Amino acid sequence: SDFENAAHELLQWYDQMARRLPWRLSPQARKNGDMPDPYRVWLSEIMLQQTTVPHAAPYFDKFTRLWPKVEDLAAAHNDDVMREWAGLGYYARARNLHKCAKVLAGLDAFPNTIEALLALPGVGPYTAAAVGSIAFDLPVAPVDGNIERVISRLMAIAGDGSAAGWAQDKKEITQRVQTLVPQRSGDFAQAMMDLGASVCTPKSPNCMICPWMDICLARQEGNQESYPAKPKR
Ligand code: ADE
Repeated sequence: SDFENAAHELLQWYDQMARRLPWRLSPQARKNGDMPDPYRVWLSEIMLQQTTVPHAAPYFDKFTRLWPKVEDLAAAHNDDVMREWAGLGYYARARNLHKCAKVLAGLDAFPNTIEALLALPGVGPYTAAAVGSIAFDLPVAPVDGNIERVISRLMAIAGDGSAAGWAQDKKEITQRVQTLVPQRSGDFAQAMMDLGASVCTPKSPNCMICPWMDICLARQEGNQESYPAKPKR
């Protein structure tokens, strides 16, 4: 297909341009084939469900300093977890996080299938796909708002902008992104996140530096900013 080399091109860009974030391994460690600690991946993805990367980063550092292993977090007093969470919002998530840590601490190994991840408290389809790909290179792609935008533009996926049209678009985006997933699925997911954050932005995307410049259908139409066709709220 037209997108045969899309993942390869994006991974080459990511190898040069990946943001250094506290929950990511260094490029050298990834090159050596190291995999990140699933606990740190899970913790970061729960935090990032409700806030931005710059806001989450100091919380992630604080949590992993206080509780370096999931067993440490499981053994913490709930009051302490809630207090350290203050500022991240959505306190039900913090309660779920602690509940999930207790479940994880009782298991022999971190769950490493989508089904087993989905069974954890506070883990829905997005988080299961994010943790599954980033921690285990499972052949799946998480779909968040950034990835919806990047893929809707790459593949020119847009309905009429109605609520029903957007629901259909989201399904199509979720299905079609799976057809691109390479072996390095975790790097691919995070590369799409970085692309959405730094290049394929909602307004005035910087197409001239995009690794998908030559294959992006929205750019070929000259219509980048009309994707994704989300209903006005
Ligand atoms: N947003 C959600 N998960 C992320 C990740 N792993 N890296 C960067 N941004 C993210």
